[in-house]
Amino acid sequence: MDKITVAEARKAEAVGRHVRLQGWVRTRRDSKGGFSFIELNDGSCQGNVQIVAPGELANYEAVVKHLHTGASVVIDGEVKTSPAKGQATEILASHVELIGNADAEKYPLQKKGHTYEFLRTLAHLRPRTNTFGAIARLRHQVSMSIHQFFHEHGFYYIHTPIITASDCEGAGALFRVTTLDPDAPPKVAGKADFTKDFFGKQAYLTVSGQLQVESFACSLGKVYTFGPTFRAENSNTPRHLAEFWMVEPEMAFCDLNDNMDLAEAFLKRIIADALKYCAEDMKFFQERIDPDLLKRLDGVLNKPFKRVSYTEGIGLLLKAPQTWEFPVAWGSDLQSEHERYLAEEYFKCPVILYDYPRTLKPFYMKVNDDGKTVRAMDVLVPGVGEIIGGSQREERLDVLEQRMREQRLEPEAYSWYLDLRKYGTVPHSGFGLGLERCVLFLSGMANIRDVIPFPRTPGNAEY
Ligand code: 4AD
Ligand code: MG
Repeated sequence: MDKITVAEARKAEAVGRHVRLQGWVRTRRDSKGGFSFIELNDGSCQGNVQIVAPGELANYEAVVKHLHTGASVVIDGEVKTSPAKGQATEILASHVELIGNADAEKYPLQKKGHTYEFLRTLAHLRPRTNTFGAIARLRHQVSMSIHQFFHEHGFYYIHTPIITASDCEGAGALFRVTTLDPDAPPKVAGKADFTKDFFGKQAYLTVSGQLQVESFACSLGKVYTFGPTFRAENSNTPRHLAEFWMVEPEMAFCDLNDNMDLAEAFLKRIIADALKYCAEDMKFFQERIDPDLLKRLDGVLNKPFKRVSYTEGIGLLLKAPQTWEFPVAWGSDLQSEHERYLAEEYFKCPVILYDYPRTLKPFYMKVNDDGKTVRAMDVLVPGVGEIIGGSQREERLDVLEQRMREQRLEPEAYSWYLDLRKYGTVPHSGFGLGLERCVLFLSGMANIRDVIPFPRTPGNAEY
């Protein structure tokens, strides 16, 4: 007898096979005819498979009739064509074994719908629900598409460090990594002496693998890194996490236009794959989470992204027929409301905003000839706002050093990074896509805490 998944059992090709299924009971219903229906799910797909458990089973009265939502079971039986509509197959059980019971009074995921807020307090059980199962499968698919896209386009996957002494974004929102005793650190001149710390200097969790991956771009040409990143900003918003996953491609001999082309092709590929390989889950998101989802994603797939300079963007915002919570002015950062207005209302498609004021962006971005702006680009999408941030990098040593001083960074601390400009410097560009922002966009979910298995946010590091 073959062990198969619920996904396999639901296909018409399975009819006639004697199989074993293992999973969790979603519901049980006893028929007056003396048999029971069990809805079984094993996480392999959105839908359940219906098990028909006949009254003749030896343990029918003692076990089957007491199976509760959440119990784990092993079912042996034959796959049959189902007479019921909405499902191709069902399983006629010849054997039902209870593995682990779930107390009907105590099991927290009863049949009725729960709020996402409540489910966040059950992050260890919520993957058993339809919504969180679908998100986990979608997240997996997006991760696979990321690797496949870059592999097919000749990029090498580089593993950049999690612990680093460099502050890539220059924003100072770093988590410190230390083994010093917080109550009694060794001191020099009244301050903690980090030369006595584990690494002999101050170290942090990475906010981005970009600086390190640049060194591989400047030797292997096309590379990417994909891993967890950490930001200690105190942002309690539905779009920010303290720990999130970011994919960062980097290309040598490549300018900002090539970078925009790559970002657009990359996002479109991820959407196309999700629609193709997660069709059942995407239909669920459309029906249960966001009724405009599929239309919006189709629009993104089939239209070119709009490319607009920051300065033009500010002009559009100043002319917009609405008032803003955060004032709009050239030189100030765009807030979510501004980004979403441009993508959702004005252009109604993804927008790539480029050439931001130099004061708003990190030291590594290439300064334009106007001296006021840098070759930055942000990709803004309807429903989410900024999903990608990237730039052409400053390849001129003197300008880069000057930018570091301007942002109060010591060039000496980045001497290895400056070497890339000293020895065989090349124009190069790259970007970062936040995996969770991407899953938000693809699922229509509203809160980033619901698209990562165990969210870390200010005041919360449960599990
Ligand atoms: O725009 P960011 O800060 O860019 C960088 O880190 C560059 N080093 C990338 C590069 O050029 N290689 O972040 C990139 C993306 C954002 O567009 C957003 O999708 C996501 O990472 N992101 C976050 N996602 C969740 N929570 C946060 N706190 C995030 N901060 C950034
Ligand atoms: Mg950004």
